[in-house]
Order: sequence, then structure tokens, then C-alpha cells
Amino acid sequence: MFVPVPALASNIEKPAGVPINPADVKRVKLFQPFQQKSVTMHNRLGVSPMCMYSAVDGHLNDYHVLHYGSLALKGPGLVIIEASAVVPEGRITPQDSGLWSDSQIDNLKRVVDVIKSQGSTPGLQIAHSGRKASTSPPFLGDYVVAESDGGWPDRVVGPSDNAYAPHYAKPHAMTIPEIKQMVQYFADAAIRADKAGIEVLEIHAAHGYLLSSFFSGNSNKRTDEYGGCFENRIRFGLEVVQAVRAVWPSNKPLWVRISSAEYVNPDPMGEDPNGWDIYQSCRLAKEFKNLGVDLVDCSSGGNIHGVKYPSVPMYQVQFAEAIKRKAEIQTAAVGLIVEGTDAEQILEKGQADYILAGREFLRDSAFTLVAAQALNVDIQWNKQYSWAVKKARRHNTTKTGGNADMTTIP
Ligand SMILES: Cc1cc2nc3c(=O)[nH]c(=O)nc-3n(C[C@H](O)[C@H](O)[C@H](O)COP(=O)(O)O)c2cc1C
Repeated sequence: MFVPVPALASNIEKPAGVPINPADVKRVKLFQPFQQKSVTMHNRLGVSPMCMYSAVDGHLNDYHVLHYGSLALKGPGLVIIEASAVVPEGRITPQDSGLWSDSQIDNLKRVVDVIKSQGSTPGLQIAHSGRKASTSPPFLGDYVVAESDGGWPDRVVGPSDNAYAPHYAKPHAMTIPEIKQMVQYFADAAIRADKAGIEVLEIHAAHGYLLSSFFSGNSNKRTDEYGGCFENRIRFGLEVVQAVRAVWPSNKPLWVRISSAEYVNPDPMGEDPNGWDIYQSCRLAKEFKNLGVDLVDCSSGGNIHGVKYPSVPMYQVQFAEAIKRKAEIQTAAVGLIVEGTDAEQILEKGQADYILAGREFLRDSAFTLVAAQALNVDIQWNKQYSWAVKKARRHNTTKTGGNADMTTIP
């Protein structure tokens, strides 16, 4: 039994993260609303999906209310809840979130309601981890979790029977009936996400998890209609998108996250025609667009163990830009975007339509505020805080002594 956020405590009317001065909305793209279908995100800076490895049997709990609530309170336009597995064996770790059972809807809805109560938009990523399943939460180590510890190393699946890395479980190559069944599981999870009140649904087809491992000829060694040529390798992903779009409400946006390149060719924009590269990603994005996908979230890597990644600021923006231009679909840029001014430049230059950040929000849940400061935008803060600190912008306040800027506190 839990008590929903009452009207007094909600910030729906004036969400944090909205410019106070309407002229700033015109001036700064990052703080313009982003509308897709009937959903409006109140700005263009969102929280990227991030696994917390803290669920029990795929059920979210108070930790997730705390974590996502603290993010939503500080003004991002969108909070994408972490990868949630469509079947138990699709979890990365036994502690992953899941959406394979109706029993998981209520706890998810509680997190959704908390995000909504602060005027932010709740998103969710649905996922299957494929041959990277049954592993340990990273903060506990990097090992396969045995059956006796709640893992399922003998039930890990992939396009073929080659393991992701020597220390990962050997997957079972999915049969065609298993592929067809999995398509349905994704659709079932989408229906549950809608019931929980999710407004933006993202299909996880990146990072070497199940769908992306089918896309790449470096991991997909099949010889049937799900392997070989580009059209065959993307077939499973397209079937999932089609099935999800069919059940996901037509007035709600559907996003797909892909790995735009996988660095077997160390040049990120280089070719890897029999593996996976940006050129195939652009073609794939066009197919997604035809199936009713609203935005491609452009990540990269994760499918090939041991390759070197560029780790420079905004390293994936080039993918978002290429896909946006070639496939003429909206894109999200993500990856080491840690400055508000950089985020604004990406939007200004038309390289992407939306900005997602992950680790910067973990470092500072008020990243939206910090980004606004950098762009000289005064943004709304939640009323419970803003009456007390008057101006959310720290450099306008005196930290010690007179506190000229502070309301008199009783
Ligand atoms: C703790 C953690 C968990 C993550 N979990 C997910 C996930 O569930 N789904 C996903 O697509 N990406 C996941 N990622 C990747 C992030 O969403 C993001 O794309 C990546 O961290 C790069 O963005 P950043 O430099 O802003 O952190 C995770 C990253 C971190 C740090």
C-alpha cells in the first residue's frame, strides 16, 4: 500500500526545467518543448536509460521511486526508465527490471506516477540481453551468475552459439519458432508499459543485446532467413518493431536505440559491410521510419568484446547526425554530452532533435539546472525548493553570511 503524490506536492502545473522567461524558450533550443504525437516533453534534455541492477524478480521497488523521483524533481523533459526485460532470461543480471508479467505493472506505475507528478515524461526501455545475459551486476564484478545464485547460464540465447566473450555463457542459437515467440513477448511487454502509464517506449536494439547481435554479421552466423545478408540480419528487429507498433498506442511515440557502429573497423564512420556500420544503421533507420518509429536513439558499440572505443566528448553525435540526414528521421544524441552549451550546439546545428545524458545525471541530478545556467536561462524549479532558495542559480546567491538572496526562513 502506498500513498500517491497529492496535488499540493505535485509540480505538474509548473514543472522544473521550464524557462521562467518565455523569451528564453524562443532563444534556447534545449529548453523548447519537444512534441511527438500526443506527448510533449517540456524540454529537450532527457535522462538516458540506465540499469540500476536493484530489482527483485524484475519488480521495481522503493529504490527506483527514490532514484527516478530524484531525477524527475530536477527538471529533465524525459526520464527513460532502465532496460526492462521482456522475459526473465532476457535480463542482463538477476537484478534487472522486467516487464514479462502483469505483476510488475503496479510497481512500475508507481515510478511512472512519481515522474509524472513532477511534470516530467516517463519513458521506458524494453529489452532482451541475448548472449550477454546471466551476468553479475557490474558493481559486484564481471562473471557469469550460476543457476544456484539465481542465474540461467544454460538458457542464454543468441543468433548463433558463439559466446560474447570467453568468460560469458555459451548461447543457444534461437530456433525460428523461438524468434517468433520472442517477437510476441516484446509486444506483450509494450502492452504492459502502456498499462503502467509509460508515454515514450524505447526498444533496446543496441549494445550487443539480442536484437543488435542479430543485426551484425560479426555476431550473427546464421544461414537461414535471419542471417547472412543485411535484409536477413535486420528481419528480427523489424518484426519486433512492427509487432510493438501494432499494440503501442498510435498517439504515443516509439523510439528505438541502436548501436550505430561497433568499432571492428576502428574508424567510427568506416565500413564493415559484413558486420555492422553506420551505413547499415542509416538503412535500418529508414526501415524503422517506414514502420512508424518516431525517433532513433543513436548509441554505439557493445557487440564486440575488446574493441577500442573513442571516449571524447560527444563521440556519438556524428551517428545521430548521419542517421537524421540519411534516413530523414528524428534522432537523439547521447554519449559524453556533459555541457549545456554543447547540448545546445548539437540542436542548433541540426545534428539531433533530442539530447540524452546518462552519467552526468548520476553525478548531479540537477544537470538540467546546470545546463540552464550555462545557457543563461533561468528555469523553474520545484516549488518546494524554489520558494526557499528564491533563485535556483547558485552563482546568484551568497553561500555564507548575510544570504541577501534568501527568503526569511521561519
Ligand atoms: C549505470 C549505467 C547503466 C546503463 N544502462 C543502460 C540501459 O539500461 N540501457 C541502455 O540502452 N543503455 C544503458 N546505459 C548507457 C547509457 O544510457 C548511455 O547511453 C551511456 O552511458 C552514454 O551516455 P553518457 O556519457 O551520458 O553516460 C547505461 C549506462 C550506465 C552508466
